[in-house]
Amino acid sequence: MITPGGDFYTWIKALHVIAVISWMAGILYLPRLFVYHVDAPKGSEQSETFKLMERRLYYAIMTPAMVVSLFTGFWMAVPWLSEGWMHAKLLGVAIIFGAHMMYGRWRRKFAGDENVYSSRFFRFMNEVPTLAMILIVIMVIVKPF
Ligand code: HEM
Repeated sequence: MITPGGDFYTWIKALHVIAVISWMAGILYLPRLFVYHVDAPKGSEQSETFKLMERRLYYAIMTPAMVVSLFTGFWMAVPWLSEGWMHAKLLGVAIIFGAHMMYGRWRRKFAGDENVYSSRFFRFMNEVPTLAMILIVIMVIVKPF
């Protein structure tokens, strides 16, 4: 039985917070790379360096951190699934998960020199997971409803 506050549960929560910090670091940084990559001439050394940074950030940090965040989160969530705050939190997580998938698609477009979006677009897209992260942290710590 999963007991909130139990020793094992608390270790899982610590691992969860480490994983979500790593995932959020990538989710908030990758669109910043896109903002500057837009202005790098195709085929230039600068553009090729951005491609390498984006690929390593996405596959070596963001994706493993996402898998650990989701696995530890759903493991802990069982006793809380009927709570309103958990529903609002999962809405926030769904938005961040969606952003992660879209960033993967845009990263592939950049890798093939096929990006069509402006740096202004990526500045805007950067705000969406930021707002979702704020919602998530308030819901899980304050548990307002
Ligand atoms: C499917 C994904 C997720 C699920 C099911 C989930 C579920 C949970 C659960 C059940 C807890 C323990 C709550 C408690 O014991 O009071 C927790 C803790 C936490 N979660 Fe998540 N979580 C997920 C993703 C995230 C994400 C993406 C973030 C941040 C952006 C996040 C931030 C936190 C924080 C900061 C805590 C510690 C709260 C505390 O110490 O009271 N979680 N999560």
